[in-house]
Amino acid sequence: MTVELTTDTISVDSGAAGAAATCLGGGGLVAFPTETVYGLGADATNAIAIARLYQAKGRPSFNPLIAHVPDLAAARRIAIFNDTSLKLAKAFWPGPLTLVLPKAPDCPVADLATAGLETIALRVPAHAVARDILRALGKPIVAPSANISGHVSPTTADHVRHDLAGRIDLIVDGGPVAVGVESTIVSCLAAPMLLRPGGLPRAEIERILGHALVQPPAEVETNDTNPLAPGMMSSHYAPRTPVRLGANSLKTGEALLAFGPDVLPAGTEKVMNLSPAGDLVEAAANLFSYLRALDQVGARGIAVMPIPDHGLGEAINDRLRRAAIPQD
Ligand code: TXA
Ligand code: MG
Repeated sequence: MTVELTTDTISVDSGAAGAAATCLGGGGLVAFPTETVYGLGADATNAIAIARLYQAKGRPSFNPLIAHVPDLAAARRIAIFNDTSLKLAKAFWPGPLTLVLPKAPDCPVADLATAGLETIALRVPAHAVARDILRALGKPIVAPSANISGHVSPTTADHVRHDLAGRIDLIVDGGPVAVGVESTIVSCLAAPMLLRPGGLPRAEIERILGHALVQPPAEVETNDTNPLAPGMMSSHYAPRTPVRLGANSLKTGEALLAFGPDVLPAGTEKVMNLSPAGDLVEAAANLFSYLRALDQVGARGIAVMPIPDHGLGEAINDRLRRAAIPQD
């Protein structure tokens, strides 16, 4: 189901940043070094490229992604900072710190990258190659670690090749990375909370804050490949309108989230089709923005047609099941 790609590797001394930016600008997937681990980048404003990124990683669910930007000025165009987050950004960027912040009203990052959330994870990487690519593209880049889902994060271009050759367009080889573990993630939505320990020690953050970081609630499940964030508190998107899955007919007053060419008959109800052609990559790209749109039409419910469970369908169905859990 995944198309076999030719994955080129280029070294950093050969106009790599320009080549990487051109590839990303055309919707391509490029692995590149950051100071923490190698990231698998896609243009953060291109939902189809992001859907292909999840497909390449074989992610069973759409975890929200970190948007990488070249500097604080670029970060302020996509997220809202307060005094605390600004203090942390100024102290530690560029560097291995990711901040979770409210999205700016006109944030250009695709809904799929933030899994429909109103918040966004942001960081300014310290690696010269990463920053050159970001400047050459002139747009934010979303980049999870460049490994198959469930594998350990790659710290060399060889690790990336081992996992992702044939699944991505380009690998920029910048040699082994310096830090070797992922960035530390701090949520700055309320009192700063440590979501994921990482390359920046907690004590350094607490020294700048002048107080301890809040610990996430104990009931939150964590493990190596699925650190806190997803599934935690309001970390997945849920519409206010009740969602009904696997719909084979439409009830009065329901809006329809359709999939494929054979759309259920509807009268005046609002219908949006995730992919008239039945393409799961296109459906993934549209999922969160269409759910959001249908949530706003004043329907009694949102009926969702069955979606095949292979390829990206597994992740789409995972998120739809979460969206269908009743809100209190
Ligand atoms: O060092 C790193 O952070 C690397 C390099 C490539 O930058 N990236 C990385 O990305 O580790 P990834 O996708 O493997 O991990 C991102 C983490 C996930 O646990 C995700 O749930 C969390 O960030 N995250 C992203 N957006 C979030 C949000 N809005 N709220 C809470 N957590 C979020
Ligand atoms: Mg990862």
